[in-house]
Amino acid sequence: MQIIDLTCDNKAAIAQIIDFFVAAFEGRSSKNFANRENALEEIQDSFASDRISRIAIDENGTVLGWIGAIQHYEGHAWELHPLVVRGDRQRQGVGKALVADLEAQVRQRGGTTIYIGTDDESGETSLSGIDLYPNVWEHLAQIKNLRHHPYEFYQKQGYVIVGVIPDANGFGKPDILMAKRIGEPYSPLGQHLF
Ligand SMILES: CC(C)(COP(=O)(O)OP(=O)(O)OC[C@H]1O[C@@H](n2cnc3c(N)ncnc32)[C@H](O)[C@@H]1OP(=O)(O)O)[C@@H](O)C(=O)NCCC(=O)NCCS
Repeated sequence: MQIIDLTCDNKAAIAQIIDFFVAAFEGRSSKNFANRENALEEIQDSFASDRISRIAIDENGTVLGWIGAIQHYEGHAWELHPLVVRGDRQRQGVGKALVADLEAQVRQRGGTTIYIGTDDESGETSLSGIDLYPNVWEHLAQIKNLRHHPYEFYQKQGYVIVGVIPDANGFGKPDILMAKRIGEPYSPLGQHLF
């Protein structure tokens, strides 16, 4: 497996990504990812100058997964978006390798933090289908993975739940916020901050 930049002239890769991207989010997301046109738009957006767009490919050029990131906070923090692994190649370490590669890419650009919003729109965690107010943090502290929600995948890569946006996708459909420090906490003078 090799991880390379996804470029706009790689039509063969783009066609494969659209197929597995649409399949991965079908029935799980209201964000129209399960629509080929929107999937293509997502891919085209990933070529902007403030973005990172990387793919994992095997020795035959088959695309195994796609990861991207968007620069925010003047380059200190990057949002991981999107991440998807081909259905028949999930649970084989591709996602883990893509996240590690992305962390190296962000670190090279001087970023210190990667964060993610990972939606739960279909009862995949204990945070879904309930009113999270007013004791939001109690619900977060007791989160349970009911149906293979990816927050646990991110936890295994060192990401920590840092918050939640209740009702982000409609009542009872939250966005779970996670983050990881990927740079050393130095001051501009080179001193360790903490
Ligand atoms: C989530 C996703 C990217 C994970 O990629 P993957 O290649 O299947 O994951 P890996 O094989 O690298 O898994 C690494 C570890 O996370 C665990 N893991 C993977 N998916 C998991 C899930 N949904 N729930 C709990 N644990 C999970 C694996 O068991 C493995 O654990 P181990 O290190 O103890 O062996 C992939 O399943 C996917 O594309 N899902 C559909 C799209 C999606 O939900 N994207 C995320 C949107 S925020």
